[in-house]
Amino acid sequence: MSQPQPSESSILQGNAGSIICFCERITELEIRTAIVLGKAETVDEVSGQTRAGTACRACHCRIQRMLEGKPPQCGGGCSRCDGCGWIAALCACHQG
Ligand code: FES
Repeated sequence: MSQPQPSESSILQGNAGSIICFCERITELEIRTAIVLGKAETVDEVSGQTRAGTACRACHCRIQRMLEGKPPQCGGGCSRCDGCGWIAALCACHQG
């Protein structure tokens, strides 16, 4: 089932330089470009075009949110920890 696609003008929305995939250092702009111009409709298709999500997979939820036209960070446990890049719910950055 295809997801609603963001418009081409949405490529530069959000924080384009923000890193979405910590392992491969892939930015929000690169992922938006894959979705809008590359017509990626799944996480696997985004991964194939950008390499995002090809290592630990912690960024898959953020990529999926972008595919759904949502901001990548949900503000909850699915968001990326800026310290380690893992899903906030799984990172150990803030544990003693
Ligand atoms: S593969 Fe994307 S954060 Fe690890």
